Amino acid sequence: MSRLVVVSNRVAVPDAQSATAGGLAVALRDALQSCGGVWFGWSGKTAAQTAEKPAITEVGPVTYATLDLGRKDYNEYYNGFANRTLWPLFHYRLDLAEFSHENYTGYLRVNTLFADKLRPLIEDDDHIWVHDYHMIPLGRELRALGVEHPMGFYLHTPFPALEVLLALPSHALLVKSLCAYDVIGFQTENDLRAFRDYIHYETKGELIDEQTFHAYGRVVRAEVFPIGIERGQMEEASARAVELGAARRLERTLHNRSLMIGVDRLDYSKGIPERFRSFERFLETYPDHRGQVSMMQIAPLSRSEVPEYKAIRDELEGLAGYINGRYGDFDWMPLHYLTKNFQRETLAGFFRLSRVGVVTPLRDGMNLVAKEYVASQDPSYPGVLVLSRFAGAARELDAALLVNPYDHDGVAAALHQGLVMSLEERRERWESMIAKVRDNSLEHWREAFLSVLRAVPTLAERRA
Ligand code: G6P
Repeated sequence: MSRLVVVSNRVAVPDAQSATAGGLAVALRDALQSCGGVWFGWSGKTAAQTAEKPAITEVGPVTYATLDLGRKDYNEYYNGFANRTLWPLFHYRLDLAEFSHENYTGYLRVNTLFADKLRPLIEDDDHIWVHDYHMIPLGRELRALGVEHPMGFYLHTPFPALEVLLALPSHALLVKSLCAYDVIGFQTENDLRAFRDYIHYETKGELIDEQTFHAYGRVVRAEVFPIGIERGQMEEASARAVELGAARRLERTLHNRSLMIGVDRLDYSKGIPERFRSFERFLETYPDHRGQVSMMQIAPLSRSEVPEYKAIRDELEGLAGYINGRYGDFDWMPLHYLTKNFQRETLAGFFRLSRVGVVTPLRDGMNLVAKEYVASQDPSYPGVLVLSRFAGAARELDAALLVNPYDHDGVAAALHQGLVMSLEERRERWESMIAKVRDNSLEHWREAFLSVLRAVPTLAERRA
């Protein structure tokens, strides 16, 4: 089987980054190990100047090639256009999106540079798989360097509705850049529909069939590949972890009270302030639960140099203090709010102990925490998932208690419903969800995308 070249902003070089909050890093490392090849991207480090040459680490069949970013590139590309423009825009937060020409130029510059540095590492028969919003222009830049290889792009975030995308001054070039790939993958039908709307209404493109379109002189496939979690891994990890120190200690602190849990990167798209307000509404509306249940919110810090992330952190600290001050007692704390990062295995144990998993993003591409919570449950005594209808995962996990995260009363009612739900109903809902989590595993996602990408003829095949 031909090699794979994976490109993403962050590269999880084994051992270099152990505990990561996002599921993406873990997903890609596993994907690459089975095929061999190259994983290229940012090292996660900054330097005075962007590195001239990528640092190379060989591990088995995989070459990890990473570049340190200079401060200017880091600020304009990562903190700037990727995370202050595209991220909020793709998550429908036009109010938070900043449009700066300087940042946009930096974003294009880093993509051009990445293409230059990656080019020498590409071999004739390779398939190239680029990930996420940081790297949209990369494919077009590679094409400009004569790379005619099969190239796929997968968007882990939502793709915004046409009217939202049109607010981006550079929307036309961004979509044109996407069309340089042979295969484009989205998380949900919604995202694909939004993308096809753009092609239909904004370009002179032609939708050939459900999966194929013609635009900017190229025929491109665009399909839905909902991402999953590793088959069996969380299930085994949670059974083990629940017996280990951290979970045991957590259980002891509960004194037979119920636990509700939220685990998210500290990001405004995750709806954590709205969740805290819903929790407050829950304590207000259902006083019988006071003293009987606690909510633990784990929110590892993320993108801390971006002002909107600083602002949300301050907001959460204020809200957590307010809720605990108002409702807490000398022997009971309603809300445990931690910005500490935990190993996935530890989290699996915490999930298994929790009666309710609270996953209420305002908008999310998929949300793998929802799937991990389901996979971590004890089959004979599963907890309940309260899930935002605006997470991609809601498409598959429709047996969760689906909520609108903006509706605090509705979320409060769902938290209550989760806590009082009969074991029979909990099992029924969980069985429906775990079947989907198992069926649509990470391996399944990878194979589904790669089989479409591998159907695109390689250079050698085209030359033969
Ligand atoms: C989201 C994005 C990923 C990103 C992850 C962590 O899941 O879709 O591309 O790697 O967040 O964000 P960070 O900015 O810390 O890399």
